[in-house]
Amino acid sequence: TYVVTENCIACKYMDCVEVCPVDCFYEGENTLVIHPDECIDCGVCEPECPADAIRPDTDPDMEKWVEFNRKYSEMWPVIIEAGAPPANAAEMDGVPNKLQTHFS
Ligand code: SF4
Ligand code: F3S
Repeated sequence: TYVVTENCIACKYMDCVEVCPVDCFYEGENTLVIHPDECIDCGVCEPECPADAIRPDTDPDMEKWVEFNRKYSEMWPVIIEAGAPPANAAEMDGVPNKLQTHFS
């Protein structure tokens, strides 16, 4: 599976949604996640993310992100069309500790 990682939080550009052939992105207030059981590993979303937040789970240290994506994809609604990203998305790109500041 591919997973959405920390730098999506508060950037939420949503370009990824437009290219996914199986509509397996789910939407929270500040970020999206991928349902690990629905992703077909096509990889087309990875280069589309302006925040470079999408990774294959074969990258090192992805276990926590697979869990994060699984947990929230089972709680949040599916998103099939990109909306408007946050106005300050560019400013939030690369800001450290976004997981801690938005999910604790
Ligand atoms: Fe969708 Fe393919 Fe990205 Fe998986 S890798 S989330 S199937 S676009
Ligand atoms: Fe997030 Fe990148 Fe998609 S910022 S919403 S993973 S395009």
